[in-house]
Amino acid sequence: MQPPHLLLFLFLPILLPGMWADLEAEPQVIQYLLTGLFANISSAEVSCVALVGDISILTLDPANWSVHFHWPWASQAAAEGDGEKIMSQYKIVLRNMIRFVHDTVQQTKQHYPLVVQFRAGCVLYPNMTSQSFLNVGWGGRDLVTFEVDKQRWEAQQPSQVAEVVSKSLNRQKSVSVLLEYLLTIWICQSNLQTLKRYGREILERQELPVATVFTRTPSLDQLLLVCHVTGFYPRPISVAWLRDGQEVPPGPALNTSTILPNADLTYQLRSVLAVAPRDGHSYVCRVRHHSLGTRSLLIPWENRSTAPAISITIAVLLLVATASAGGFWWWKNRTGNEATWETQEFII
Ligand SMILES: *[C@@H]1O[C@H](CO)[C@@H](O)[C@H](O)[C@H]1NC(C)=O
Ligand SMILES: *[C@@H]1O[C@H](CO)[C@@H](O)[C@H](O)[C@H]1NC(C)=O
Ligand SMILES: *[C@@H]1O[C@H](CO)[C@@H](O)[C@H](O)[C@H]1NC(C)=O
Ligand SMILES: *[C@@H]1O[C@H](CO)[C@@H](O)[C@H](O)[C@H]1NC(C)=O
Repeated sequence: MQPPHLLLFLFLPILLPGMWADLEAEPQVIQYLLTGLFANISSAEVSCVALVGDISILTLDPANWSVHFHWPWASQAAAEGDGEKIMSQYKIVLRNMIRFVHDTVQQTKQHYPLVVQFRAGCVLYPNMTSQSFLNVGWGGRDLVTFEVDKQRWEAQQPSQVAEVVSKSLNRQKSVSVLLEYLLTIWICQSNLQTLKRYGREILERQELPVATVFTRTPSLDQLLLVCHVTGFYPRPISVAWLRDGQEVPPGPALNTSTILPNADLTYQLRSVLAVAPRDGHSYVCRVRHHSLGTRSLLIPWENRSTAPAISITIAVLLLVATASAGGFWWWKNRTGNEATWETQEFII
């Protein structure tokens, strides 16, 4: 058995408890984003996209306002409950919205071209409470927001246009009542629940992280340990460095990047730890992610040898036993694609 395996065994026992403490459940967000580009008094180009979390479910074609569903389950979900009624009315709503913007521009002597944005949706928190929202942006700044509980529009900037828009919208009581219903009952409950039910496979998709440890030597007296983690989904992840089994606390030596998207709707990040060369300590990059369940991915680095400046280890640990057939297939293909890397796999 090679030394890295040994290391894994050594570290494993202290890793088992409290795995999820640093992996908080994220709120779920459904949102409809609508952008209107008003080039002049006789023109309006409207586009719209709907997202559940980071998954796009539909777009509106600006050319003919037809809705394009990105998934069969998204159109299935849209036909349920009041969805059909809403689908039959949305073009009327868009026309009214366009007229309202043009009227407001005239009334407040604003200038074209103008971009108006709407963001409506719902946040479902892990404690199962939800909060709906509807915000309007005007020329790139927050203009008004709909206070759902009060059924009232509030200005978000001290300007004439914000005042005119909020006053005018607040006079239309029936619109406020309808919006409150659409936001709290339809989007937050029926729409979100049916989407989650029909789209479970996509929305609850989990992809295993693939972690690589390698080094950089910017100068003779500095060694950077790089832990690159990629291919994971969903987004929440925890990446930490352990020095002789102890988590390295945040500090100037530790630098973790933001989480960046990959083209295939997975994510990546890297964590860089600056150490002194051959300091005699052992280092492990530890990754926790929902796809790993209660287990951790551990990629050890021995800071003793004078051996290769770049040593790469891809460890997919403990997973195969529990991974679904699909996940295993994915993993095999994925690691297969990284043939240029010098790889070592650990399966305990
Ligand atoms: C208004 O803008 C549209 C789109 O840019 C353009 O095609 C049209 O000619 C413009 N009309 C006028 C009256 O300027
Ligand atoms: C709308 O336009 C797109 C192309 O811009 C086209 O593919 C689609 O079939 C059109 N839909 C309708 C209902 O005309
Ligand atoms: C649920 O969680 C949200 C966000 O953390 C919080 O604002 C809200 O007060 C919580 N509600 C209850 C009933 O605990
Ligand atoms: C962390 O990394 C970023 C990007 O490489 C760099 O700009 C920044 O200076 C680093 N911060 C520290 C504390 O090393």
